[in-house]
Amino acid sequence: MLSTQKKTGQGFSHAKIILIGEHAVVYGQPAIALPLKTLKTHAKMTLRQDDQQILESSYYTGPIAEVPEFMQGIKHLVMYILTQQNKEIGFTLQVTSQLPIERGMGSSASVAVAIIRAMYDLFSLELDHQTLLKLADVAEKDTHKNPSGLDAATTSSATPIWMIRDQTIDPIPLELDAYLVICDSGIKGQTSQAIATVKEKLQATPTATKNMITAIGDLSWQARKQLAQNDVLGLGQTLNAAQKYLRQLDVSEPTLDKLIELALQNGALGAKLTGGGRGGCFICLVKDQRSAKQLSDLLLANGAIAAWIEPLKK
Ligand code: MEV
Repeated sequence: MLSTQKKTGQGFSHAKIILIGEHAVVYGQPAIALPLKTLKTHAKMTLRQDDQQILESSYYTGPIAEVPEFMQGIKHLVMYILTQQNKEIGFTLQVTSQLPIERGMGSSASVAVAIIRAMYDLFSLELDHQTLLKLADVAEKDTHKNPSGLDAATTSSATPIWMIRDQTIDPIPLELDAYLVICDSGIKGQTSQAIATVKEKLQATPTATKNMITAIGDLSWQARKQLAQNDVLGLGQTLNAAQKYLRQLDVSEPTLDKLIELALQNGALGAKLTGGGRGGCFICLVKDQRSAKQLSDLLLANGAIAAWIEPLKK
């Protein structure tokens, strides 16, 4: 029955931060995102002697067939790959992730990517990037209904990316004389609800909503130019403009808005939510490491529950 030789397969992935373009990317506009390599997900699949199929994670441990509702995507993904590869095996799948969940950091995509890599490693199969993204979509569709693929593309990437849905995923240099402070507002963000809100808005007020989505896309193009020109001040303004549209799309949230305002009053050159919104994380662009540290301390003293500092100059 078993054709595999390896007993264990392993896979890694990262957190993702969207610099600009969330939500608009779902409707074909460009986005810029970067992997946050300080936060990792690790998946390890080990063959068992018996035919049990066990998932071990910090949220659930037990038969994979009985995972809670929010983990259905993982179950579908694993079963899909087993069926596709014609494998009838017993296994223990251990998933450990440093990513906070429901904070806009791509935890569901990161878990999916790590699992796909672990399974392909276990079965000693070549895994090209397109196949990886298609498989991640199997899990992400359960979680986010209409995922653009940006989360999986970024959590699996070694470099920052420029993405246009179903068209382009290009590495993009993010070499700016600046730092990002990434902050967790402590509020759970519900990406699927935020995506549904934008969809409803498109149905209720199609022209105005389409215009906002196009405007966010234009801001991504502008950000790309500003990155190429090391225009830190310009990029800060572009991030602020994007946040204005995200607020108008109703995907921001009062606590998030307050923390973003506080950041702007205390040295941030630009600040916006990142990811699905409705809570979750936000990013602040600052000019140097000292300002980054001061700002992250201030935000942590004022309600943010975690902060990461990411140099943009490599
Ligand atoms: C979620 O991290 C980003 C969204 O643009 C959804 C997606 O791209 O699938 C809100």
